[in-house]
Amino acid sequence: MALERTLSIIKPDAVAKNVIGEIYTRFEKAGLKVVAAKMKHLSKQEAEGFYAVHRERPFFNALVEFMISGPVMIQVLEGEGAVLKNRELMGATNPKDAAPGTIRADFADSIDANAVHGSDSLENAAIEVAYFFPATDVFAR
Ligand code: TYD
Repeated sequence: MALERTLSIIKPDAVAKNVIGEIYTRFEKAGLKVVAAKMKHLSKQEAEGFYAVHRERPFFNALVEFMISGPVMIQVLEGEGAVLKNRELMGATNPKDAAPGTIRADFADSIDANAVHGSDSLENAAIEVAYFFPATDVFAR
């Protein structure tokens, strides 16, 4: 498997629950390294731009409002097969469907307040990492 990078966001609900450290521990135990990170309160424009692919979906406005409801923790994760590995750690979009032991099963309240974001493909990962981090702020280790 190839060394990959993926974008992860700990959403406002999980930041408010004070579980950033618990979620980072899951990344590290799975062999994913944090190679860039920042806490940020997204502007409406930033959240709309990030989720532009969902612009026509009925949940778009609620999703944007949720994402700007408080600070988020944004990180780049690096590791073998990082994109899929992070998606497996996250669990299904709807926490009701998320496998036991996944981040969403343990920390998400609902399909809209679902604790974490993770890039869903290698192609989107590159776009999403570049959306938040200049190349000089991502550290190979
Ligand atoms: P999506 O890309 O389908 O899920 P994932 O985050 O697992 O890649 O959707 C993006 C976000 O949009 C999702 O994390 C939460 C929100 N969302 C809703 O609020 N309602 C919905 O019905 C769906 C499908 C998503």
